[in-house]
Amino acid sequence: SPTLLRDYTPFSHLVDHVDLQFKLHPTATRVTARIKFRPNPVAPGQGFFLHGEQLKLIHATIDGTPVSPEISDTGLTCDVPDGPFTWEAEVEIAPETNTALEGLYMSNGMYCTQCEAEGFRKITYYPDRPDVMAPFDVTIECDLPVLLSNGNPVASGQWSDPWPKPAYLFALVAGDLVAVSGDFTTASGREVRLNIWVRRGDEGRCDYALDALKRSMRWDEEVYGREYDLDVFNIVAVDDFNMGAMENKGLNIFNSKYVLASPDTATDGDYANIEAIIAHEYFHNWTGNRITCRDWFQLCLKEGLTVFRDQQFSGDMRSQAVQRIEDVLTLRARQFREDNGPLAHPVRPEEYQEINNFYTATVYEKGAEVIGMLKRLVGDDGYKSALDLYFDRHDGDAATIEDWLNVFEDATGRDLGQFKRWYQQPGTPRLSVSETFNNGTYTLHFEQENPKAPHPQVIPIAVGLLSPNGDEVQPTDVLEMTETRQSFSFEGLASKPVPSLLRGFSAPVILQRNVTAADHAFLLTHDTDPFNRWEAGRALAKHGLTAMLVDGAAPDPLYLDGIATLVQDDTLDPAFRALTLGLPSQDDMAQSLFDAGVTPDPLSIYRARKMLLGAMAARLGEVIPDLRAALTPHGPYSPDAENAGKRALRNALLSLQTHLDTAPASQQFAAADNMTDQLAAFSALLQVGAGADVTAAFYDQWKGDRLVLDKWFALQTSLAPPEQAVEIARDLSDHADFNWKNPNRFRSVIGGFAMNAAGFHDPSGAGYDFVADWLIQLDGLNPQTAARMSTAFDTMARYDADRQALMRAALERIAAKPDLSRDMAEMVGRMLKG
Ligand code: ARG
Ligand code: ZN
Repeated sequence: SPTLLRDYTPFSHLVDHVDLQFKLHPTATRVTARIKFRPNPVAPGQGFFLHGEQLKLIHATIDGTPVSPEISDTGLTCDVPDGPFTWEAEVEIAPETNTALEGLYMSNGMYCTQCEAEGFRKITYYPDRPDVMAPFDVTIECDLPVLLSNGNPVASGQWSDPWPKPAYLFALVAGDLVAVSGDFTTASGREVRLNIWVRRGDEGRCDYALDALKRSMRWDEEVYGREYDLDVFNIVAVDDFNMGAMENKGLNIFNSKYVLASPDTATDGDYANIEAIIAHEYFHNWTGNRITCRDWFQLCLKEGLTVFRDQQFSGDMRSQAVQRIEDVLTLRARQFREDNGPLAHPVRPEEYQEINNFYTATVYEKGAEVIGMLKRLVGDDGYKSALDLYFDRHDGDAATIEDWLNVFEDATGRDLGQFKRWYQQPGTPRLSVSETFNNGTYTLHFEQENPKAPHPQVIPIAVGLLSPNGDEVQPTDVLEMTETRQSFSFEGLASKPVPSLLRGFSAPVILQRNVTAADHAFLLTHDTDPFNRWEAGRALAKHGLTAMLVDGAAPDPLYLDGIATLVQDDTLDPAFRALTLGLPSQDDMAQSLFDAGVTPDPLSIYRARKMLLGAMAARLGEVIPDLRAALTPHGPYSPDAENAGKRALRNALLSLQTHLDTAPASQQFAAADNMTDQLAAFSALLQVGAGADVTAAFYDQWKGDRLVLDKWFALQTSLAPPEQAVEIARDLSDHADFNWKNPNRFRSVIGGFAMNAAGFHDPSGAGYDFVADWLIQLDGLNPQTAARMSTAFDTMARYDADRQALMRAALERIAAKPDLSRDMAEMVGRMLKG
């Protein structure tokens, strides 16, 4: 039965202190927990229950007297004294056979933990819920040289964390590790030792992460007034990890792909991800750890806010305009897809079977958008005073979305009753617009409709107006739409303006407006808002691709001219120009067609995109060599935003050029002194079906490097031509270097293939079966990673009856697997229900 938001009750007891002792052993680790409990004055009298799963209880005492608790699959109950008492339990666990990578497990001979959301219960019996917070002391006994846990070091293998925390923030690491270290002095003078712990041989790839950490720490002081609060900050890189990274107090644990970087092995994109994720986990120290969540329904309280903060940080470090476009691309690709399918849920869900299934784009990315809207509505000063009040009022709390909104109401005097619907209603609102112009008065008529929810939401609509000759006659104004239908007027205009709507993507909605290609082209040339300028190019591309698909039209010359002008405009940031060259993805086009009432055919979409890319190449062909030459960075590789932007444009042009001539890409592949350029050449060649030689060469060069090899696998599966994609993916899953037990490698091969839209949706159903077979196999080993990838099937409703039947059959086959995990059962059940 599902867990419900409305069923929340506090735990029967408070925990005053936790003492943990680990005797590490691969198959027989002993964990002794000594926990000081005291009745919770606000909890209604209920039995004493501790979570615990897959634990072998060796002994248990209360105040030193042996007790015999009643044990089930999920935990234990026990008679306890009326007043305070000390619980002690010794359990045995087997980290080596823990393949789910949740709780205490092993990766390459190293012990490590992942407790969020509910993994601590696989380590010892405990009230494993975020509203139970306590200070922890930890002792680790083990032969391995490096023994880490949360808080400050006391002695070898001994740690003390003074800050009360929920169990999901507990962490332990033991291994033969080396550190790359640095120092940071906080604004108030605390000396903090920073360590990045990695396997021997990886020490040369930590400098960028360390630098990003220092910049994150400084930025949080300067922008949010938040200082670090321990003497050490440890980061550990782990090869086997279900997610990106984890914000354990004082001991962040990272998927190694988000820590390790060197110019020859990491791309500019990898560097940007490392910077963002290091920042994200560091920022959690205040938004997540010092202030945590009352229950898991409030997950967006920490995740939405922390994503919002890391996006602000990356924008400050790089370019706000480029950052915004990239964030919206991700939002639309992942969150809009989720919100428009069977897995839609509110930013704050109200029920779940398995909370790990709710670490979603909706909770994270839409959660961040909601905060962006709030900031827009209350203004920068209002936001700042609300955040100051939040940290002040809730430090040390396990808080709720109500607490969060109250802080904004109290700090700004604004009523957020209606705004709260952004947290409660699922679905992406459709915002349709029409216009009238009379005697100098221009009126915009808006109507909102959310296909998944009944009540109108507050929509901040940032609007600017341009005169027909391209001057901005109305700078950005934020309209606040609160009704289902609402009109806004602008007076005193000499002529009918061209509107620039939803500037900066001021709300996560789908704008529906009949705009001519000519108006899009006008905005592409004249808009002062960089986001909307890019958006106009994107709309024009979609417009053109749709006409190609539906009416068999030729590539739109307006689009080709527009981007040809823009891409040669030296006054514009190269990174921005590179983004304008990007076409809507195959998946994006499929959703757009479906929204327009057309059943998408993945193969036709693949071909239309390829044809348009060919036309772009032909249009730009003559200018590409000079443009590329002018963009060549000088000096040795540097991952900074300026150089990365130049490479992005240079490589976007290379990719187009390869449609005409493969020689430049082959040359770049051979000559590249950095992974960005090498991989760009590799992809360009793969995309035109000329990748055989470089595929072999790349493997020979990089077969010893696990992170680079992940790229080698992923590019081949995701870029394989549709007709051969299943076969290529199958061959790669038989490759000696395919290790299905490693989540990164599994995602590269199986996940890479699932992202190859035309291959995955092969009309034979072979793509569906290939993915379903692997999900069935992985489910027995690692339910979390398997369940997450099952979202490949969440677009079923878009497609033709034959494909739908094949997808449904694949899902039903997964559903029928004996001993299916709770994770997968919930996901597949939701998708089959539609
Ligand atoms: N809190 C982590 C982060 O956002 C994510 C951990 C999620 N882990 C999980 N098993 N659901 O940085
Ligand atoms: Zn997070």
